[in-house]
Amino acid sequence: MRVVTARDYDQMSRKAAFIFAAQLLRKPDSVLGLATGDTPKGLYRELIRMHREGDIDFSSASSFNLDEYVGLRPDDPQSYRHYMREQLFSHVNIRPESTRVPDGTAGDLDAECVRYESALRSAGGADIQVLGLGTDGHIGFNEPDQEFPAATHIVRLDESTIEANSRFFRSREEVPTMAITMGIGTIMSARSIVLLASGRSKAEPVRGMVRGPITPRLPASVLQLHPDVIVILDEEAASLL
Ligand code: GLP
Repeated sequence: MRVVTARDYDQMSRKAAFIFAAQLLRKPDSVLGLATGDTPKGLYRELIRMHREGDIDFSSASSFNLDEYVGLRPDDPQSYRHYMREQLFSHVNIRPESTRVPDGTAGDLDAECVRYESALRSAGGADIQVLGLGTDGHIGFNEPDQEFPAATHIVRLDESTIEANSRFFRSREEVPTMAITMGIGTIMSARSIVLLASGRSKAEPVRGMVRGPITPRLPASVLQLHPDVIVILDEEAASLL
């Protein structure tokens, strides 16, 4: 695990964008593993800028998002599908049919998990996966648990995650309580991983992830076992290292 500290959020985002740009230059048909939340917004902004300047091309790339809330339609402004359209997809030349987000409205959610996992596998797995970090150390929506869930699955969100994510909703009651998420095994099968963390609220989980024991109580700690992970932090997120 390589840990890089950036001056601030913007520099963290630029460093991450360089890695994604290099990936697309080296392999134009890369499978990109994408994440939501506030943290990767700066990365997406940089990628849009590089695309507008003609430096990167998404026309052969495809993408798989980490997770989606159960019950939100793709056009719901709070859905992760909507977020991705707003933050990245509609501003670059990725083909809409090449962008995948789990379907949180599927009638049979277990079947949707199996379908999503096998679609990612058929695409050859993610070449590069971006991750944010929950304040409780979650990645995707893999909450602290007794064991590491392997494949894409349904989760009940922890109270702390519902609380943290309620800032995106009008009220806490509107935050979905369940989600579909790639499992830890799915995430670990990405060929390379870029984890971003910014701000004081991430300092504690960052310390656990980098220095602590590998435990499903802090899901991100499993990344210590991955052969190609870069963790890019701003100074606040790195403050307890
Ligand atoms: C959500 C997402 C995660 C994300 C985390 C942190 O729970 N499912 O993928 O990493 O929040 O979000 P933020 O970047 O807004 O701090």
